[in-house]
Amino acid sequence: MTESSIQRDKWNSKAGFIIAAAGSAIGLGNIWRFPYVAGENGGAAFVILYILFVLLIGLPVMIAELTIGRNTQKNPIGAFLKLFPKSSWKYFGVMGVLTGIGILSFYGVIAGYTIGYFVKLLLGQFDTIAGAVESQRIFEEFTANPYVSVGYLFVFLTFTGYIVLGGISAGIEKWAKILMPILFVLLIILAIRSITLDGAIKGLEFYLEPDFSKVTASTFVMALGQALFSLSLGMGAMITYGSYLSKKDNIISSAASVCFFDTLIAILAGLVMFPALFAMGMNPSGGPGLVFIVLPSIFSKFPGGIYFGAGIFLLLSVAALTSTISLLEVAVSYFVDEKKWTRKKATVLMSIFAFICGVPSALSMGSSDWLSDLPILHIGVLELMNAVFGNYSLALGSLLVAIFAGYKWGVKAVKREVHQFGNEFKYFWLWSFLIRFLCPIAISIILGYIIITGNYF
Ligand code: PHE
Repeated sequence: MTESSIQRDKWNSKAGFIIAAAGSAIGLGNIWRFPYVAGENGGAAFVILYILFVLLIGLPVMIAELTIGRNTQKNPIGAFLKLFPKSSWKYFGVMGVLTGIGILSFYGVIAGYTIGYFVKLLLGQFDTIAGAVESQRIFEEFTANPYVSVGYLFVFLTFTGYIVLGGISAGIEKWAKILMPILFVLLIILAIRSITLDGAIKGLEFYLEPDFSKVTASTFVMALGQALFSLSLGMGAMITYGSYLSKKDNIISSAASVCFFDTLIAILAGLVMFPALFAMGMNPSGGPGLVFIVLPSIFSKFPGGIYFGAGIFLLLSVAALTSTISLLEVAVSYFVDEKKWTRKKATVLMSIFAFICGVPSALSMGSSDWLSDLPILHIGVLELMNAVFGNYSLALGSLLVAIFAGYKWGVKAVKREVHQFGNEFKYFWLWSFLIRFLCPIAISIILGYIIITGNYF
């Protein structure tokens, strides 16, 4: 037992952890999902609510998850088993592992598209694109091809598995350190390009000037759902990443840095999308296709734009990749820690499992009528998976983390773990208040609302 914990891999440094955890948090959620959700929910007013939720709910829950992970040095199931061996909390861990695979299965489909688009741009398929309508047609044709959708899902999961196979410091951390800085620089360049397009100003107004008349109950629901998803909370990804954290590192400042970078990138992604969107005369509530339809129509408008665009889709894939590895790592760490599987066996089997679970989502984007419009529910499988795993499960999971840290394990235990090696827990009183009262109450109200109204996020 002790032997296996001595051998357990660790992040090389605090900075390495922050980059890897920011890599998990920063992904399609920031660059693909945030702009379209903000667009559908009124722009700036949504962004303000979103930031409030990150600070008041996301950050406290992240601190709780990282602390549980670091204290136990275990995967989510093992962590609860270690702290309370006889309780039912381990089933919460089971939910986390399943949610990780559930998200990976549909997320991998969209991530696969980003590789597909990278290839398409390089092959010159957007060189002469006329505008948004054509861009839309290309996207629909692309997703409706079953070989393409399933094929790219497979490719994406293979890359994910390859990195996870390398382990923590030599796999996940090493790759995150290479990939994240490049992503950041490219996003800034693209934001500048987008803001300087003719007619961009209307987009900036939409994005930066709040119109609170657009805020409804569903704006709250969407903002919270987006914050939890974007910060990778509620399914044990941060418990798992925290479990590889050194006892010397300060959990509070690490968590704050991850939340800061994640929000920064989401806001930057909005600065890329909205000005361009308005400059092209497109509707800001373009939905999930936004990134695939709007970006290519911008690239074709300036010299060398196509190669630049290819670079951006490559980087979108990269951002997605640093997230999918965290989704896979949760299940892998469970089988390695608890079932004593080799990392190789766990990685290969879990990747295959995620692939099988992902096929219906891949086929639901136009290849199969039935999967694209399920009976009774009238949504596609990918949308359903997103609602169940990407939204409900993360909200329920975050609620349970708050209750666990606030009451079951207790705020004092959390404080003790944070204090290791003389580290400070700044604003402990505030954190205790948020995790014990605000987080559970706010998340319960929102969960109750979606259950009663039957709305998913
Ligand atoms: N946070 C990731 C993103 O924004 C998605 C994710 C959710 C990753 C949950 C891990 C766990 O793209």
